[in-house]
Amino acid sequence: MERSRNLFGLSAQAKAQLIAKLSAASFVRSAERLPRRSNPEESSNFAPRLDVSELDGFRDIRMIREAADFLGIADPFFRVHEGIAGAETLIGNKPYINFASYNYIGLNGHQHITNAAKAAIDRYGTTVSASRPVSGERPIHRELEQALARIHGCEDCVVLVGGHSTNVTVIGHLLGRNDVIVHDALIHNSIVQGAMLSGARRVPFPHLDHQAADRLLGELRPRHGRALLVIEGHYSMDGDVPDLPGFIAAARRHGAWLMVDEAHALGVLGPRGFGTADRSGIDPRDVDIWMGTLSKSLVSCGGFIAGRRDLIDYLKLSAPGFVFSVGVAPAAAAAALAALELLEREPERVRQLNDRAALFLQLARGGGLDVGSSIGASIVPVITGSSIRAGRLAHAMFQQGINVQPILYPAVPERAARLRFFLTAAHTEEQIRDTVRILIEENRRVEATPSDLAAVARHLGKPATPPG
Ligand SMILES: Cc1ncc(COP(=O)(O)O)c(C=O)c1O
Repeated sequence: MERSRNLFGLSAQAKAQLIAKLSAASFVRSAERLPRRSNPEESSNFAPRLDVSELDGFRDIRMIREAADFLGIADPFFRVHEGIAGAETLIGNKPYINFASYNYIGLNGHQHITNAAKAAIDRYGTTVSASRPVSGERPIHRELEQALARIHGCEDCVVLVGGHSTNVTVIGHLLGRNDVIVHDALIHNSIVQGAMLSGARRVPFPHLDHQAADRLLGELRPRHGRALLVIEGHYSMDGDVPDLPGFIAAARRHGAWLMVDEAHALGVLGPRGFGTADRSGIDPRDVDIWMGTLSKSLVSCGGFIAGRRDLIDYLKLSAPGFVFSVGVAPAAAAAALAALELLEREPERVRQLNDRAALFLQLARGGGLDVGSSIGASIVPVITGSSIRAGRLAHAMFQQGINVQPILYPAVPERAARLRFFLTAAHTEEQIRDTVRILIEENRRVEATPSDLAAVARHLGKPATPPG
């Protein structure tokens, strides 16, 4: 996601002043920490220490933490959950209604899945001990890949150890310096990282706008070797969906490959929950590269690419993140396969998830909350328009026994800061009604008592106290 320069609603100038002050303070402090050497022999061996405060984003992170501390907002990150996180969860031994898990169709901890994972460990151990081409191949890998290929209506599939790393290695490998990657402006970070690794020219188009993608490709395609158009099937931050036929037509018109990231679509979209092709009724072969993860509805860990046999063959023999990385762990592969079996056997889970999410969306919108363009399939954002407001609202919800994650700058542009609600099939109607009622009340309270931004800015502008 592209970065906004508008931190906490401060003007660019105010932010620049703050950063200048913070840099001066951090410069003094890092100079203080440097070991002082007077002996020239010693200094010739001296290697400067890594100064983390000079790394990208360090100051932004520190400013956000300091602002949160100043406002008395508890850190909402790295909360420890003490059991299975689904519609409910246990944090600090207290029960919460939970809207912060990818456990969309309520499969994590399902007996069929844990039994399958345990049986895989009994048979193959906890690791396959090698990359797949060189002794890491186990029957469970191909069984999972064939099931994923079938569900996606593709000839074949390859499973890798992580979802994020799948996008990085596959895009980084398929495209090169002479190529162009055109992608939705709100595309997931893993795709941006893959594009950067490839060295290809990278051009975003406005969110969901296939006509803009078409125009960009028209302009850029003739000057580049290969072109890749990348979208998500169900956007992870906004819960909205693309007009797939529009993107297929744009890719066709300009001879570009089309890639669709299905991380949040599998188990969520379409009558069977098979994802975007199932939702839109297109021929899956109209998409060149289907990407997905095992970590959401499939309650496991890993990523995959589904598509034509020759593409999958090529990736299995040459994608660095596959060839030079260990095969996915037996328990993870078995869990994902068992979850797929349940998805096929119990499609009512998908209907229930969609019904719950639609109810949440309808109540929240009816209560005047800004839910953006969510279709209410499983993800509903509540856009607060500022990181501070999002932090305060999430904090207030937590105090009321509801766990929901705020999404703050720089993960989204400052004006798009939000709470993001992940619904699951296991949420009850009562939990949803109670949550939205509390959310509307707390949002009113937060709106009625705006934070004193000038005080935050003054606080952030003060030189930080030296360590010790
Ligand atoms: C759209 C999208 N693609 C890829 C990923 C990476 O998947 P994983 O978390 O399984 O590594 C995510 C993660 O949330 C995602 O939202």
